Amino acid sequence: MKFACLTGGGDCPGLNAVIRGITVKAIGNGHEVIGYRRGWAGILEGESVALTLDAVEDIHRTGGTILRTSRTNLPKVKGGFDKAEETLKKDKVDALIAIGGEDTLGVANKLYQEKKINTIGVPKTIDNDLSATDYTFGYDTAINIATESFDRVHTTANSHERILVVEVMGRHAGWMTLEAGIAGGAHVILLPEEKFDINEVVGILKKRQETGKGYSIVAVSEGAQPKDLEGFVTQDTEKDSFGHVKLGGVGQMLAKQLEKLTGQESRHVVLGHLQRGGSPTAFDRVLGTRLGVKAVESAEQGEFGVMVALRGTDIVCVPLADAVTKLKTVPKERYDEAKIFFGQ
Ligand code: F6P
Repeated sequence: MKFACLTGGGDCPGLNAVIRGITVKAIGNGHEVIGYRRGWAGILEGESVALTLDAVEDIHRTGGTILRTSRTNLPKVKGGFDKAEETLKKDKVDALIAIGGEDTLGVANKLYQEKKINTIGVPKTIDNDLSATDYTFGYDTAINIATESFDRVHTTANSHERILVVEVMGRHAGWMTLEAGIAGGAHVILLPEEKFDINEVVGILKKRQETGKGYSIVAVSEGAQPKDLEGFVTQDTEKDSFGHVKLGGVGQMLAKQLEKLTGQESRHVVLGHLQRGGSPTAFDRVLGTRLGVKAVESAEQGEFGVMVALRGTDIVCVPLADAVTKLKTVPKERYDEAKIFFGQ
């Protein structure tokens, strides 16, 4: 068989582990593998590279993606699907493995449904917001980076007796803020899943001041919204080709308000792309590797229109459609658990 793979959307640690997993497994079974450059853009432009054992040697230990990535939205390009079909035919590709988040996998699903192209999805995103898989790779690395950042702001906030607001990525899902916030001992955690009341936050922080706790750490998701604000805090009015706004700025806004309302000096820090960079954790290297191997096995068994997923400790196949119809956000019970520790 001839396999092709691509990485689309925001990069994340673990992508190279998947590419290596696919390549080593496929070549070991006598297949050929190519990689399209820059996600769907590579298919449109017919730009591919051969993936050999030499090309993927040791790459599972590195962050980013050797294939590069883009947020090109195939269905938005005039004649995009036809062009994709043409490229895949010309390159004699039997199975296309798309490694990406909800956007990339949504396109893979449409190609399967509408063009009957043999696609298989591999779920990636630091946001961990894909349904039908327990975890996405990239997430573990990102929350560990965020947790270390929380550990670091504790000491400086404590020394200066300040409030430190840490803004965490994650778009419309609060998983990273929730889990890094708990692990990193944030005193308040604010998520996109529930609008927050600034007066309640002030109440918790003032109580800490009154009981002699000289500093506070607030974890806020980039997609968190105050009760009195319509819409999200964004960097500008631009949207990407999938229609996503560029979130960011809520941490700065919150720090200013908290300084005014509590009378305590406040600072903010935006973790941003630091959370997506660097080498993957052992968990993400292993998960990425296993997903890559399973994607090849599925293709060999003729199973297409599926996404490989982690369920418990097993790697299984689920319909691609199940993965892209609903975003997996933080359930109320999980947020309530975190609230037990607010102010502590
Ligand atoms: O989906 C991953 C993610 O890192 C989000 O958490 C964030 O909102 C977005 O991508 C940032 O995208 P970009 O790298 O295009 O600024």
